[in-house]
Amino acid sequence: MILFIVNIRCNWREGRVERDSNVCPDHRSHTSITFNIIFCSNSDRNRNSGGGKCLQSRLWQKRANPTRHDASAIHVSTAHGLLSPLVFLRLCFGPHSFSFNTAVPVTTTEMSSFTRLPATELPPVQNDLLLRAGRGETTERAPVWIMRQAGRYLPEYMELRVMADFFKVCRTPELACRVTLQPLERFATLDALIIFSDILVIPQAMGMEVQMVKGKGPVFPEPLRDISDLDKLNLTPNVNDTLGYVYDAINLVRQKSEGKVPVIGFCGAPWTLMAYMVEGGGTKTFHNSKPFLYNHPQESHVLLSSIAELCIHHLVGQIRAGAHMLQVFDSWAGQLSPQLFHEFALPYLLRIATGVKEALDADASLPNPMDVPITVFAKGAHWSIEALAKSDYDVIQLDWTMDITAVKEMVARVHVEESLAAVASSSTKSWQRPVPKSLQGNLDPAAMYANETVLRSNVQQMVAEFCPNGKVQGYIANLGWGMQPFMTPEAARIFIEEAQAASSSTNTKV
Ligand code: CP3
Repeated sequence: MILFIVNIRCNWREGRVERDSNVCPDHRSHTSITFNIIFCSNSDRNRNSGGGKCLQSRLWQKRANPTRHDASAIHVSTAHGLLSPLVFLRLCFGPHSFSFNTAVPVTTTEMSSFTRLPATELPPVQNDLLLRAGRGETTERAPVWIMRQAGRYLPEYMELRVMADFFKVCRTPELACRVTLQPLERFATLDALIIFSDILVIPQAMGMEVQMVKGKGPVFPEPLRDISDLDKLNLTPNVNDTLGYVYDAINLVRQKSEGKVPVIGFCGAPWTLMAYMVEGGGTKTFHNSKPFLYNHPQESHVLLSSIAELCIHHLVGQIRAGAHMLQVFDSWAGQLSPQLFHEFALPYLLRIATGVKEALDADASLPNPMDVPITVFAKGAHWSIEALAKSDYDVIQLDWTMDITAVKEMVARVHVEESLAAVASSSTKSWQRPVPKSLQGNLDPAAMYANETVLRSNVQQMVAEFCPNGKVQGYIANLGWGMQPFMTPEAARIFIEEAQAASSSTNTKV
């Protein structure tokens, strides 16, 4: 027998019964606090977590605050479990745990106490380094944040994840807010927060089911394998109805972070989302999604274009809710040939940036498009950088395989060409910047596994290349891809510290 903690529930509101597929139906309860701890064998775990009958279970129910007796009961019971009693008690009582005086939000509908504030009533941002760098300005040092800075490498994230499914965290604004803030609580000098959500909320909004399966990643039980499957999609869902929980979470983060640093909103790019929707999850071969492009170009364009419009609405929704900056992740751009990229990925990436800027420009209640930098990340697509340098994006995120110096030169050249062309045609967009695109990145994520001396020297070298002649302009320090589960918080701390120190000392040379 192995102990699995299937669920811990605090139904604080007396008399309320929530449906929760993770809980064995026999053990739903009306009481204030329920520790629902289930003993089962390895093979039974999956059945149980799917709502099947438990092999054997023990249930503690209390109507008042937990007592010493409860704690010791847990202690005894977990002694044979996967978690040490200490870890378990920390989950229940520690600083990052759910408080017993607060209801654990189990369903989206359950959280109701929170009020979304209009952007004008949100605390103004204090540290705006990220926004200034995103606008191409010279900064006193490089702002630093890390893609996937809230995630499985943080023990406090894992503690919270024991109690809630990944998408439940995304859909519960209090939990999403809590996870978003975790990196800043740990690394006080961090220069940005990114909202805890996922790129796959867009396929969900279009009506697809997505599960996050441990050890496997995202799984779509019913992927789009045939053009007739497109009929099942809602190509034009209302983002406020389907993704309002993201906007609530952003608004809550703005309230709780008290303006310490800017908040980044994001979405996935159409091609990357389509790849997930067609493959049904992660893939190394793209043997469903790429043939879909080849065999059904017209239908692919319909789908990609619908996703792009949805991305625009979703990004604008995030700005309306209080996000300061945006990022578009085209994680699988590099899987396409330049030809496929130019036909199926680039037009939609460009459309998103232009669409968002136009929407901001057209609505006086939204910030000025000049004030909202947008970053694009076409991972692995070296050939895309020149086209992206001509786009309406403000910042280009580079992966670690890209040559910093060559990109900087190209971006500078494109800027001169674009400026001359704009003068010649006397058509400038109101959000056109007088400076080359800013750059973000791009440390090899694997350097995070190296020893401290090597990690620090790699960060110094990265900063030196992005900031030649000691000039820190339009540069945001980041990794070349996201944090991975086996990286340590210490490596993240060193990265942040070194990137900030190296860029400060670089800058004093100016
Ligand atoms: O801190 C942050 O960066 C904000 C949150 C964030 C997540 N996903 C949380 C997450 C962001 C910005 C993303 C973007 C995302 N999601 C991308 C683009 C960036 C990239 O990594 O290329 C992609 C491709 C996804 C899709 C996705 N979500 C995958 C492939 C996986 C599983 C594998 C993995 O890399 O973790 C997820 C799950 C996911 N999204 C986790 C987190 C913290 C881990 C899930 C868990 O807790 O079990």
